[in-house]
Amino acid sequence: MLKYKQLKIESLIRRIDTFKTIGHGTTRLPFSKEEMEARKFIAKYMENIGLTVTEDSIGNLCGCLPGTEPSLTPVWTGSHIDTVLEAGMFDGVAGVVAGLEAVRIIKENGILHKRDICVWIYTSEESTKFQMGCIGSRAMAGYLTRDELSSVKDQDGISLENLLIENGFHLDSYDSVLKRKGDVYAAVELHIEQSPNLERNQKQIGIVDAICAPSNLMITLEGEQSHAGGTSMEMRKDAFMAASEICLALERCAKCGTSPYTTGTAGFVELTPNAVNVIPGKVKMSIDVRDCDYKSKNKVIEEFLFEADLIAKRRKVTMVVEEKCNDMPMKCNAKITSILHEICEKNDVSYMHTISGAYHDSLFIGTFAPVGMIFVPSKNGISHSPAEWTDFSDIEVGTNLLTDALIQLSNEI
Ligand code: GLV
Ligand code: MN
Ligand code: MN
Repeated sequence: MLKYKQLKIESLIRRIDTFKTIGHGTTRLPFSKEEMEARKFIAKYMENIGLTVTEDSIGNLCGCLPGTEPSLTPVWTGSHIDTVLEAGMFDGVAGVVAGLEAVRIIKENGILHKRDICVWIYTSEESTKFQMGCIGSRAMAGYLTRDELSSVKDQDGISLENLLIENGFHLDSYDSVLKRKGDVYAAVELHIEQSPNLERNQKQIGIVDAICAPSNLMITLEGEQSHAGGTSMEMRKDAFMAASEICLALERCAKCGTSPYTTGTAGFVELTPNAVNVIPGKVKMSIDVRDCDYKSKNKVIEEFLFEADLIAKRRKVTMVVEEKCNDMPMKCNAKITSILHEICEKNDVSYMHTISGAYHDSLFIGTFAPVGMIFVPSKNGISHSPAEWTDFSDIEVGTNLLTDALIQLSNEI
């Protein structure tokens, strides 16, 4: 009985993890067959535990537990179920399952909650498919309009608009996706930490004070495709050698940033023609720069692009830069943070305040609602990898905190 909640959490996480492609780790890209099946499973699960289920035009799925005072604005929780390539089973799903478990407990125990409590599964949080993340929450916040859906494309050139239509989402009611300040009373997201701070400090919970935000660029370099043996080193316009030097410039600029949270990553590279004995004529690569300080992030990007341009010119390759997004970091709401803090104190749960280097849907939810985030430990700080692990007992501790916070917030008037 004591372990019932933990077992429930484990079985739900493992069940959702059955919806993935065959191969190494968990791959469940947005709008894939696997993700659409996982959505269906979760929608059914929501219904079974007594939630009212809705889905908006951008694909955000919501299970709502009605409160006793319908005139009050709701309290939200939730996260995402899409993954990067070869992910683990906890990123996003831990927060979804914690939210579902919290409302199940609240309902089954008849705990008074005046406000509705809604569990959201936001569409396409990861940037793997569309080279920018938080598609669902971005749209809610008004940073992805109906007109922009046709220009957001996946790596096969298929637009988000077409993917939504193909999967049965009704774009004629797109306006209702948008949320405004005052629509949501508070939102709390649980997530795995994806860094080693909690483990190193032997804490059960991280209370997030701020969330770093990304800028995503796609850089295309074009040189001259030619023979690997017949073309002397002096004659070459090697797009990949230019890309390699540009990557090192990215590393240098990110390390020289004034903020301790600056990161720079080139995670996606596509070489053309990608053959052993051919000098690459074209390279497409992604650049992901993050920071908790918007100004500092933009300064790093400016310096990086200046260096990249010099490198490209010196190596006689052309460079085209496409900005996919340049998001604003988010400070969590001080009142929610102190509620989390007080619940931890009261229940003797060890905690620390922290900054999220990873981004989350809360980054966008926070533009129209007060947000808080709960972190649970990641083993060795590893995430976006099949080696990602969080003990189910740790998720249970986070779920208890989330449950108490949702009850408290939903009864505030
Ligand atoms: C989301 O997982 C991110 O890239 O931070
Ligand atoms: Mn992720
Ligand atoms: Mn995530």
